[in-house]
Amino acid sequence: QTRVLTGITTTGTPHLGNYVGAIRPAIAASRRADVDAFYFMADYHALIKSDDPARIERSRLEIAATWLAAGLDPNKVTFYRQSDIPEIPELTWFLTCVTAKGLLNRAHAYKASVDKNNELGEDADAGVTAGLYMYPVLMAADILAFNAQQVPVGRDQIQHIEMARDIAQRFNHIYHREFFVLPEALIEEQVATLPGLDGRKMSKSYDNTIPLLAGGAKQLRETIMRIVTDSRAPGEPKDPDSSALFMIFRAFASEAESAAFRRALEEGIGWGEAKQVLYERIEADVAPMRERYESLIARPAAIEEILHEGARKARAIAAPKIAELRDAIGLRAMS
Ligand code: TYM
Repeated sequence: QTRVLTGITTTGTPHLGNYVGAIRPAIAASRRADVDAFYFMADYHALIKSDDPARIERSRLEIAATWLAAGLDPNKVTFYRQSDIPEIPELTWFLTCVTAKGLLNRAHAYKASVDKNNELGEDADAGVTAGLYMYPVLMAADILAFNAQQVPVGRDQIQHIEMARDIAQRFNHIYHREFFVLPEALIEEQVATLPGLDGRKMSKSYDNTIPLLAGGAKQLRETIMRIVTDSRAPGEPKDPDSSALFMIFRAFASEAESAAFRRALEEGIGWGEAKQVLYERIEADVAPMRERYESLIARPAAIEEILHEGARKARAIAAPKIAELRDAIGLRAMS
């Protein structure tokens, strides 16, 4: 059995990038008989980015409903909320004590903040919390607490998985035992980074996302119509390979559909019409999910129950693991 694990930070509404980068491949993996899947809402991670309790709670509900609407079977997948697993912050501390500070200095998210401060002539660490700095260690604990082997993520998370490997290796080395399995990122090469409305990576922090389910078909269509294109008029040939619109289409289409759309662009289909084609392609996948989503989101108590059961199953794995570690590192009970 292969253990597969992934999480989504509860700071916003799931967007197309979350879906094609993580949710869709994770659900496909969970249907394989040889896979033991662990999927969760990363709400401890959310505290690093948001101090708005209502937003975090709303996001958690939306993300949970999205996973379920997209086909996650809670009887088959261990589906939980990170903050229901007290073993995770405990493991985070054990890992913190073997993690080189220099490793964390190299994390992209931290470095981006430092670079921006330097550009503005501010103190390098201005506005940087210790939480942001420690982000990769918390994520390593998420993965290592369950000895996950494969982690389906978008390309932006690869560095974090590599850091989890480094931290696991260091811990195993220091304590002379293979406590942790070394995890690997599972990347969909076709869609490793889905572009957003402006062509940059689709991301909550760039405010360029297309929501997957929230807002209904109307909002999906309206947002797709806002994708930035060049100014070529209908009839003029378009370059599919430099078009965010085409990249997004490809993430939802078969090879044959993509080839046909490529030809249509090269033959000069107007951007407005191309956007309508994209909208219809995505809506065909999303419409059945949206119906389930609407009914799930109206029953938060039922979702809560599923997550409680998931936490129970997750802790049954994580608690003995932490007990074993406590013994090994010198925190054994006196008897
Ligand atoms: P988060 O919440 O930013 O994103 C959730 C997942 O969506 C993927 N993703 C994308 N994939 C392709 N194209 C895009 N434009 C795009 N935008 C987002 C992300 O790569 C991710 O897989 N730190 C993580 C959450 C996390 C986690 C974990 C993941 C916490 N602990 C343990 C895996 C294992 C994060 O903030 O993802």
